[in-house]
Amino acid sequence: MLPNLILIGFMGCGKSSVGRRLSTLTGHRLIDSDEQIVQAEGRSIAKIFAAEGEGYFRQVEKQVLESLIGLAGIILSTGGGLVVPPENRLILRKIGIVGWLDAEPDILFERASRSGKRPLLKTENPRETFDTLRESRMEAYSDAADFRFDSSGLSHDVVARGLLEEAQRHLHRFEG
Ligand code: S3P
Repeated sequence: MLPNLILIGFMGCGKSSVGRRLSTLTGHRLIDSDEQIVQAEGRSIAKIFAAEGEGYFRQVEKQVLESLIGLAGIILSTGGGLVVPPENRLILRKIGIVGWLDAEPDILFERASRSGKRPLLKTENPRETFDTLRESRMEAYSDAADFRFDSSGLSHDVVARGLLEEAQRHLHRFEG
């Protein structure tokens, strides 16, 4: 059986949409860490940030991640900051093959700011915040990932198929 596949990457990289496509292609169940947090808390991400702050959100995010250890047959789509704590990266690599979904910064920013729902971008200069945060996380994405995939200009279907092809090259981590 295909191991679990995990999508990491910055806001706007398409983890949720590509995750849905991957779920259809593989038959694996899609789990979205942000959705799990919303369910566990009974309120939106924006409300959690506003009422409790980012630190609390990160605690719940970690608990959600830990609750997934041992599951098989899943596609896991993660929130953009989940990879920041090094211990989360170790857990991710144990759970499955980790693909870093990336795209050109302009594309990411356009998609990330479209919904207006991302609390971390509610600043005076969202683009500057976006660039600084993205830059500060590059190392964490690189460290967590088995591979990086540039989705710029590609449809969700093409990206999902490309990711599956890449994932095949990393099966050895879960064999034998
Ligand atoms: C965050 C990204 C969001 C969500 C939260 C924090 C981040 O998920 O987890 O707003 O720290 O980058 P997406 O990457 O799906 O936007």
